[in-house]
Amino acid sequence: MSRTYKLGVIGLGEGRSIISAALQSERWELINVCDLNEEVCRARREEFGLSRYTLRYEDLLNDPEIEVIAIYTPDQLHGRHILQALEAGKHVIVTKPLLHSLEEASSLLEAAKKAGKLVFVGQSSRFFEPMIHQRKDYEAGRHGEVDTVEAYYISDARWFLKRDWSRQKGFSWMHNFLSHPVDLAKWYLPGIEEVFGYGHSSRVNQEYGLSSPDTLRFLLRDGEGRIAQVSGSYTKPTLRQVDSGIGCTLRGSAGTSRALYSKLLYHTHFAGEGPMTHSYEEKHPYYFRFEGESHHAGEYQNYIEYFADCLDRGETPKPDLLEGIHTLAVMAAMERSRETGRPVKVDELLREYSLPVQGGETDAYANRA
Ligand SMILES: NC(=O)c1ccc[n+]([C@@H]2O[C@H](COP(=O)([O-])OP(=O)(O)OC[C@H]3O[C@@H](n4cnc5c(N)ncnc54)[C@H](O)[C@@H]3O)[C@@H](O)[C@H]2O)c1
Repeated sequence: MSRTYKLGVIGLGEGRSIISAALQSERWELINVCDLNEEVCRARREEFGLSRYTLRYEDLLNDPEIEVIAIYTPDQLHGRHILQALEAGKHVIVTKPLLHSLEEASSLLEAAKKAGKLVFVGQSSRFFEPMIHQRKDYEAGRHGEVDTVEAYYISDARWFLKRDWSRQKGFSWMHNFLSHPVDLAKWYLPGIEEVFGYGHSSRVNQEYGLSSPDTLRFLLRDGEGRIAQVSGSYTKPTLRQVDSGIGCTLRGSAGTSRALYSKLLYHTHFAGEGPMTHSYEEKHPYYFRFEGESHHAGEYQNYIEYFADCLDRGETPKPDLLEGIHTLAVMAAMERSRETGRPVKVDELLREYSLPVQGGETDAYANRA
C-alpha cells in the first residue's frame, strides 16, 4: 500500500534540493527543516514558502510526526547526526559520503540494528536519468558479460573550497567527490577484492592549504578478475565542451554503454544495433531546478520516491548502511594503496575495523520498518 511519509531535513545548503524534491513529490510531506545558520533558514523559508524552521536539531529529533530525517550537513558531521536520528527512532537518508572514515561505522551498524531503522545513502548519481537507463539495460542483460567499468568524476571544483569545512580535518576529495565514481564502479562490480592507485596533490590544491590529493587514479579488481578504473581531478580547468562531470562506461560481451552527468546523454552500442545516442534534454528542468548544474533536486526526488516505494514494500533501499560501509572500505583501501604504493585488499580494512566483510549476508543489519 502506498502512503505519504513525513520528512525533516538538517543542513540547508544542498539541503535546498531535497526541500524542492519533497515539496514536488506526492509521496512526501515536509514537516520541518533545520540549520545552525538562521540566514540560510530564512532564505529557504522565503524561497519555498515554508511555515517554519528551527536552529536546533533536537526539534527534529523530538518531533513525533517526523518519520525520516534527511542529513545534508558537512561530511564530518554525518556520523553524529545519523547516530542521533537512529537513537530518536527515525529512518535516515544521508547524502554522500556516508561517513568520512570507517571509524564510526561499527557504532552505526549497532545503532541501526538496535533501533530497527533504515539508513539509506543518497548516492545521487545512481538516480540521474542516463544512469537509470544504463542500469535498466544492464539488468536486462543487454551488455552480456560486463568485465570492465570505467567511472570518473572530473570537475573544476575550486568553488567548493569556499566552504569552511572543506578546508578542515576530515574533508577529502576522495570522500566528497570520488565517492560518486567509486559507488558506480562498486554498483556494477560489488565484490571488489583489491585496489591499487596513485594520488597527487597539485600546486593549486596546496595553495588552498589542502594536503588531500586532488588528482586520483585507481584500478579496482573483483574476485572474478573483472576490472574497474576510477579517476578524479578537482582543481584544474576542464574541457566542458567534450567532457561531462561524471561518466560511467560498461563494456560487456554483447554491448558497451556510457552514461553521463550532467549532459543528460546516454551512448550505447548493443549487439544487433548500431551505435546510438539517447538524449534526455527535455528533462533538464526536472533535474536542474536552480541556477547552474551543481544542484541535484531531480535525483533526490527520484531517490526519495524509491525510498518511499521500498518502505511501502518492506524492502531495504540500496545502498543501505552496510553497502555504504563496504564502499567506504574500498576508499580506505585506495587511500592505503596511495600511501604505501602497494595493492591493498578491501576485506583487510574491514577486519581491522571489526566490520562484516563483503559477500556475507548483506541484509544482516538491514532492519525493517
Ligand atoms: N550530489 C550530491 O548528492 C551532493 C551535492 C552537493 C553536496 N552534497 C553533500 O551535502 C553535504 C553538505 O554540502 P553543502 O554543499 O550543502 O555544504 P554547505 O556548507 O553549503 O551546507 C551545509 C549546511 O549545514 C549547516 N550546518 C553545519 N553544521 C550544522 C549543525 N550541527 N546543525 C545544523 N546545521 C548545520 C551549515 O550551516 C550549512 O548551511 C555534504 O556532505 C556534501 O557532500 C551532496
